[in-house]
Amino acid sequence: MPLDPEIESRVQKLAEKYATTGQDLAGYLDGLIHSDYLTYWDYIHLDTLLSLQSPRTSFPDESVFVMYHQITELYFKLCLHELAQMVENSSDVDFLKARLSRVTRYFGALTHSFSVMVEGMEVEQFLKFRMSLLPASGFQSAQYREIELYATDVERLVHLDFRDTAHSWNSVEECFDKIYWKSGATELATGKKTYTLQQFENKYAKDLLAKAKMLEGKNLAAIYRSLSKEQQQDNELRELFRKFDYQVNVDWPLAHYKSAARYLRKKPTDIQATGGTNWQKYLPPRFQRRIFYPELWSQEELATWGENFKYGQPQ
Ligand code: HEM
Repeated sequence: MPLDPEIESRVQKLAEKYATTGQDLAGYLDGLIHSDYLTYWDYIHLDTLLSLQSPRTSFPDESVFVMYHQITELYFKLCLHELAQMVENSSDVDFLKARLSRVTRYFGALTHSFSVMVEGMEVEQFLKFRMSLLPASGFQSAQYREIELYATDVERLVHLDFRDTAHSWNSVEECFDKIYWKSGATELATGKKTYTLQQFENKYAKDLLAKAKMLEGKNLAAIYRSLSKEQQQDNELRELFRKFDYQVNVDWPLAHYKSAARYLRKKPTDIQATGGTNWQKYLPPRFQRRIFYPELWSQEELATWGENFKYGQPQ
C-alpha cells in the first residue's frame, strides 16, 4: 500500500531530525512498533501518588489531614512553578499578568477549600491523632516560605518588631536572621528555638538563604519597581499584585487560623500547638502584618490589615 503523502512528509521530517544527531530513524520506528500505548495511570504516576498516604494512627480523619496537606503542597508547587517563570520573564507585562492571575487562582482555591480542615474532621479524633505527630507542624513547609521569598524583599518579611529598621540593614543574611517565622518560634527571653524550628533550619535554612540571595533584586516586588511608571499604574496589574498579597498574607492565614481556633481553642486553657509556637499570637494576620507590597495599599487599608477576608473565605 503506498504511503499517504502527508505521512511520507512526516517520515521525511523525522529522518532529518534523527540525522542531525547521527541516529537511525529505522531503530526509532521499531521502538514505536513495539512500545505500549501510554495510559492515564502511568502518565500521572497514579499508583505512586495514591501510595503516598501513611497516617500514623488508625483514626480515619487523620487521612483527611494528610491528604489535604499533600493537596496544598501540590498547589504551592504550582505557585512556585509560575513564580519562577515570572522571574525569568520579568519585562513582559502581559506574561506577568497571565501568570500572576494563575497564582491568585491557586491561592483562591486553597482558601476556599480550607473548610476541608475547618469543618471536615471530628475534633475528638484530631486531638488524639495530633499527639502522634509531635513535633511536626505545617510551620515546616519550605514551599510556603519559598513563595514568600519569590513574592517580596526579605526585609519586608522580618518580624514586625524589627521591620522599621530592616531597610537600613545591608545584607540579606541580616534580614533573614530576623525573618518573622524564626522570631515566631523563638522564645524572646531566652533566645531558645523550638525543636520544630531547629529541625526545619537543619534541613532548609541553607537553601532558603541561598534562594533569598538569588531573588534579591529579582523577586516580584523588585520586578514591580523595575516597571515604568505607566506600567505600574496599569489597574489590572496593580489589582493582581494586591490580590496575591492579600490572599497569601490575610485570606489564607485567616482560613488557617480558623482551623487552629476550632481544634485548639478550649476553655479554660488553649491547647498547645504541635510546633510549639504561641499560636494565638503568631497565626492571626492582624498581629503579623506581613505585607508584600505596602506601596499598593491606602493608609486606611493598612490600618485594618488582616482583620477580614477580602477575596473569599472557606466555603
Ligand atoms: C486542623 C488543621 C490545622 C491546624 C489546627 C493547624 C495549626 C497550626 C499551628 C498551631 C501553627 C503554628 C505553628 C506551630 O506552632 O505548630 C501552624 C502553622 C502553619 N501551618 Fe497549620 N494547621 C492546620 C492545617 C494546615 C494545613 C492544611 C496546612 C497546609 C500546608 C498548614 C500549613 C501551615 C503553615 C504554612 C504554617 C506556618 C504559618 C506561618 O508561619 O505563618 N496547616 N498550623
